[in-house]
Amino acid sequence: MEIHDSVKAKKTGSVQFPNSWWGRSHRDLNYIHEPFNNPDDVAMWNQLGYTQTRFTGDMYDMRQPEPEWIAPFRELLSMKHFSWSVYRMRPGDVLPNHRDTYSKFREIYNVADPETIRRYVIFLEDWQSGHYLEMNCQVIPPWRAGQGVFWHNDVLHLAANVGKTPRYTLQLTGVME
Ligand SMILES: [Fe+2]
Repeated sequence: MEIHDSVKAKKTGSVQFPNSWWGRSHRDLNYIHEPFNNPDDVAMWNQLGYTQTRFTGDMYDMRQPEPEWIAPFRELLSMKHFSWSVYRMRPGDVLPNHRDTYSKFREIYNVADPETIRRYVIFLEDWQSGHYLEMNCQVIPPWRAGQGVFWHNDVLHLAANVGKTPRYTLQLTGVME
């Protein structure tokens, strides 16, 4: 596994896992859709002219049983308060530029300094046409399964699926001290 931290105070970087040991297991989870957790952002997007009735994708997270293929990530990344969420964006799902608030994470683990929070987005399948991610207003080029990016705290990002197939990622959150 390689981790590349950028020079910019290690606020963003990329990661590459040696293989994709999860295969297709992520496809069969019981995904649940919940509204995006920041109503101020949704109000702004509506004002900008977005006509979606739903933003963001579907999640399978820690409220449900942990799939066995998650454990190796926990060991390889050694983050404090390791938290996971498998994320599916269906064709047509969009999530415009926003900053994560980690409100639940910070509440549960009582994190005083949000700058210590690291969020990974790991791509579970090879890139397919229409699958999109920007971090810090930079396009992430087409990816392979097992590659990923990370950012700290409030780095801007957006994701969308304007393709024909579901877009699957694993979101990992933890604290780097
Ligand atoms: Fe986000």
